[in-house]
Amino acid sequence: MSAFVLDDLAVNERGNLSIGGCDAADLAREFGTPLYVLDEGTIRKNCRRYVDSIRTHYAGRGLALYASKALCTTALLKVAASEGMGVDVVSGGELFTAIRAGVDPKTVFFHGNNKTPEELEAALAAGVRRIVADNALEVERLSALAAARGKVADISLRIKPGIEAHTHDFVKTGQIDSKFGVAIETGEALALAAKAAALPGVRLVGIHCHIGSQIFDVDPFLEAARVMLDFAAQVRGRTGIVLEELNLGGGFGIRYIEEHDPVDFGAYIEAIAGAVRAKCAEHGLPEPFLCLEPGRSIVASAGVTLYTVGPVKTIPEIRTYVAVDGGMYENPRYALYGSPYDAVLAERPLAPRTAPVTIAGKCCESGDLIQENLMMPEVRTGDLLAVLATGAYNYSMAGNYNRNPRPAMVLCRDGKARLVVRRETFEDLVRCDVVPDDL
Ligand code: LLP
Repeated sequence: MSAFVLDDLAVNERGNLSIGGCDAADLAREFGTPLYVLDEGTIRKNCRRYVDSIRTHYAGRGLALYASKALCTTALLKVAASEGMGVDVVSGGELFTAIRAGVDPKTVFFHGNNKTPEELEAALAAGVRRIVADNALEVERLSALAAARGKVADISLRIKPGIEAHTHDFVKTGQIDSKFGVAIETGEALALAAKAAALPGVRLVGIHCHIGSQIFDVDPFLEAARVMLDFAAQVRGRTGIVLEELNLGGGFGIRYIEEHDPVDFGAYIEAIAGAVRAKCAEHGLPEPFLCLEPGRSIVASAGVTLYTVGPVKTIPEIRTYVAVDGGMYENPRYALYGSPYDAVLAERPLAPRTAPVTIAGKCCESGDLIQENLMMPEVRTGDLLAVLATGAYNYSMAGNYNRNPRPAMVLCRDGKARLVVRRETFEDLVRCDVVPDDL
């Protein structure tokens, strides 16, 4: 059984998989498949872990921002905000969703390596708390836009700390080769800080970095904190500005499969707080307001995708394909990154796993796979298959390849399932099509 993957994965008295107290088979009957199912309790618990840890280990002088790129829907942003989280957005669309969700703009941070002038305008107009400027062009544009409005925008700078984190280790490299931010080692970062300090319309208040995603170690985060605070000391030396805010981004890993072993969560925040304090003491800097931007670790383990199994094809000596009614259009992560997932049969979740299968989607593409070589019980046509830990970067990265309508999403709590994204219709698919008169 794969109950380890989802905190709240449970089997009910009917022997069926239950999510947030809802029977998976009932959900499939009521809402159809494929279906994204979210456990609200798990999301709230994950939000609280961050908010409480900052309170416990850093005297509450910080803000956990939900990185909405992981899963951005109006209802979900409402949930995150109601748990005391701010929201990280990277596009006009995510900002629009946050505002629609009633998120306080004073808790919104706007990121991105190429914010359009329109997006910068929208961020200023909304009064977001922070625009994280990526480059010199953006600082200049912001300065002009804010000055023209008679405003001063509080900004921070996206810095490349020269740390590249992989799942199990990290390397200190130049890491100059990234499209995000400005590098410390080339002097570009300090030059940008000096530019920001000199321009009207912007006030430099912080620095930001993000070193990777699905990271299992604490060490790369600690190293990032140290490098960033060394840089803050340089900024003070060069410009006289004492930075008030340190944002270490997201990246905390989660368990998709049994072998994954993320570090204990409390220990992670405690260690980061310790590293920040030590470095500040070394440089005689005041301890900054600390921001973290978890995305995956808020929603991934709270999600399950339910599919109906179509044809099961066994190719002797080669493999068994189990085709489901979704695919790369609604979960592109295996096709893109070879990401591991676990799955269970929703109506026989405890059945012994007897043979490896390949779970394939319905798109016209051989690489349209959800997982390969996954040990499963015998899977039959008509079975309900539940792929686990699909809450992050599935719906948010979904598309309409082959004109497949995107699935619905339900949020489950105490045995009640509420629709938070309705299933797309064929009409939705042609909504933006225009047929010129002369055709
Ligand atoms: N902050 C910044 C500036 C980021 O770029 C990201 C993720 C996060 C926070 C949130 O990181 P998380 O806690 O979710 O690891 N599509 C990929 C993940 C891309 C992450 C991009 N940035 C995937 O499906 O694995």
